Amino acid sequence: MTNHSSNHLLEIKNLEAGFMIDGAYYNAVNRVSLLVKSNTIIGVVGESGCGKSVLSLSIMKLLPKDRSKIKNGDIFFEGKNIGEFSEAEMNTLRGKEISMIFQEPMTSLNPVFTIGYQLKEVFMNHEKSSKRNIETRCIQLLKKVGIGRAEEVMKEYPYQLSGGMRQRVMIAIAIACQPKLLIADEPTTALDVTVQAQILQLLKDLQAKSKMSILFITHDLGVVAEMCDEVVVMYGGQIVERATVDQLFYNPKHPYTILLLDAMPSLTKEVEVLSSIKGIVPSLQNMPQQGCRFVSRCPNALEKCKTSTPSLRNVEQGHEVACLLYESNVR
Ligand SMILES: Nc1ncnc2c1ncn2[C@@H]1O[C@H](COP(=O)(O)OP(=O)(O)O)[C@@H](O)[C@H]1O
Ligand SMILES: [Mg+2]
Repeated sequence: MTNHSSNHLLEIKNLEAGFMIDGAYYNAVNRVSLLVKSNTIIGVVGESGCGKSVLSLSIMKLLPKDRSKIKNGDIFFEGKNIGEFSEAEMNTLRGKEISMIFQEPMTSLNPVFTIGYQLKEVFMNHEKSSKRNIETRCIQLLKKVGIGRAEEVMKEYPYQLSGGMRQRVMIAIAIACQPKLLIADEPTTALDVTVQAQILQLLKDLQAKSKMSILFITHDLGVVAEMCDEVVVMYGGQIVERATVDQLFYNPKHPYTILLLDAMPSLTKEVEVLSSIKGIVPSLQNMPQQGCRFVSRCPNALEKCKTSTPSLRNVEQGHEVACLLYESNVR
């Protein structure tokens, strides 16, 4: 195995993944490298369309096969190159070693089966135990995710539960086999604020007990502040800033990060003037081919930003930014 350290759980190197659109290929994730150590929560933040979901689906190898591909790069899980895994090996990995939870509308609870049936299925797919044993473990699991009336919920169908309860069930399914990595893709976006706070707390508690790592994908920096140890900011399929949560909030560098922070609601802002960032994330076909991808929306853009492509550079220990403003030879 190549340079694999024991606390390197997931290592993504130079990943390029994207889609065929009208006969041409476009990158949705562009040269992304990311290290997820064990027992850490890493946030991936950026507006809608920045490539966060494509990144998480690439890790799970769940991109639609017919019109997408991983064009370049490697993904190592515990030092093993999962690019080389067969579908059967991936099926063993998914759910057992790496699990994923989605935003509520995308959740994969099947409307025609009871919660109990769907929970039991997870255990039956991944291990051999007696029926009675599985039933008991399902109930324990539901209690672990804060569902008090677990025995009843086992017999219910998804439509009988609230959004928050359904997300708890999804979390139960995701952690059933004690995965080492949980990929949470906007898991609370569809929930109201109170329920969102409860689900975040639940994930934090579960993480603290299990020591699993979480790749926490969100468009909401407030959630990052609440949950994460480290964070990467994505724009246009690329990582534009990487930092610890403290560094990002107290010493943000990339103009995009600074604008995202300005757009955050806060208790200290007297009047709630939420500045939203002007313009939109370019579509894949309209992504600038050279220079900085954020240039058209950047308040600090220099002439050079249109032509010269910034790369991630260290600005302090553990803090990297891809912006020409921080490259010393540029003025
Ligand atoms: N199935 C698909 N076919 C074509 N383009 C897609 C598909 N899924 C996502 N994209 C494009 O890839 C880019 C990144 O999307 P996505 O990863 O879903 O963003 P995010 O999760 O950050 O909101 C967007 O431009 C989006 O339109
Ligand atoms: Mg998404």
